[in-house]
Amino acid sequence: MKANLSEATVVVAKKKLSSDPSTTDFSVKIKGKIIKGFVVRRGSGFYAYQNLCRHLPVTLDLNDNSFFNHDKTMLQCQMHGALYEMESGLCVGGPCEGARLRSLPLQETDSQLIITFPEDVVAEEVLDG
Ligand code: FES
Repeated sequence: MKANLSEATVVVAKKKLSSDPSTTDFSVKIKGKIIKGFVVRRGSGFYAYQNLCRHLPVTLDLNDNSFFNHDKTMLQCQMHGALYEMESGLCVGGPCEGARLRSLPLQETDSQLIITFPEDVVAEEVLDG
């Protein structure tokens, strides 16, 4: 399913995202903290984000891999309904409109997605606890 190449890298099998659109979440443990992320597939594109709403420090899906609005056209925070564009992470509706999800660098191979948590994301998450 996933494997850590280093303390801040996650590998996701593309076959987990066979539907269009679809998402899968993942987490890494760094310095004793669990840091969460997710990948969304739309069409042939894959986009990785830190799983942290820009309104309040909660996961978008409230930990059940439910990242979409009702018609699956947007990502939606399950807490207060903030709507984010899948391709950009920009919040276009809700209490944090204009803010942006933290994008995670993603490398694509034929069968895998390799996602990295940058140092500043790790530092922010550790500080926020
Ligand atoms: S916590 Fe996500 S919209 Fe409020």
